[in-house]
Amino acid sequence: MAKIIGGITTSHIPLIGKAIAEGSQQTPYWKPFFDAYPPIHNWLEEEQPDVAIVFYNDHGLEFFLDKKPTFAIGAAEEYHNADEGWGINTIPPIKGAPELSWHICNQLVENEFDITICQEMKVDHGLTVPMQLMWPNNSYGHMKVIPVCINVEQHPMPSPKRCFDMGKALGDAIRSFDKDLKVVILGTGGLSHQLDGERAGFINTEFDRYCMDKIISEPEALTKLSIRDLVVEAGSQGPELILWLGMRGALSDNLKVLHSNYHYPISNTGAGTMLIKEQQP
Ligand code: DHB
Ligand code: FE
Repeated sequence: MAKIIGGITTSHIPLIGKAIAEGSQQTPYWKPFFDAYPPIHNWLEEEQPDVAIVFYNDHGLEFFLDKKPTFAIGAAEEYHNADEGWGINTIPPIKGAPELSWHICNQLVENEFDITICQEMKVDHGLTVPMQLMWPNNSYGHMKVIPVCINVEQHPMPSPKRCFDMGKALGDAIRSFDKDLKVVILGTGGLSHQLDGERAGFINTEFDRYCMDKIISEPEALTKLSIRDLVVEAGSQGPELILWLGMRGALSDNLKVLHSNYHYPISNTGAGTMLIKEQQP
């Protein structure tokens, strides 16, 4: 059967893609951020997962404001990136896992999550920057990826609890897939940030640290929050935390944090990086 081996949280901001392209990882600005990643590289190298499920949001590349699925799941053979206007390089195509995608989609719909199933899907920085962070020099050729896209751009957005529950159903679907695959779950984005308006640049480090603690020890504390609570506490783009809650829902409660790092500001955000291992029973 397919097995979930752990979860990883990571920032996804475009500026990281630019830093990678320019080779600025060791500069004073970037070093405290990029230093969080070698332990993750080592773990991925040791564990050799076959599939990554990536919870992300599309900032307007595939789904613009005229059409916004609440939940969209990729079921393509391959995913392409394209110029989004952030001045970052595109990255080579990413392989899909359509058989597992369809299994997940069937199970989710059966469990009353009415997702949009995408047999073609362009993926933006929300997914590609994490791929570059996990597998340096675009060394992800051996990996299969399933994009799980949640609307965090236009209200109404799905609640933290809804995303956690969807992640739970997705985790159950993976564990019921009849192939011996090792699966890692990525929760991308966040943490607190506001890109525009009166509070542009707002970061709430106390709330970010609270989220990093509770996402492991008591995710129910976070699922009690509303989207409005997240906007107030974490800025207008703070609701990206629901991507982390999707990831957390797919994991069990028998977890061990192998590595954790919080650094701010990275561009306009507090950046939380966590490597979370499933302690198999
Ligand atoms: C930034 C943050 C994001 O979440 C994003 O999608 C784009 C940019 C930023 O802080 O620069
Ligand atoms: Fe974002």
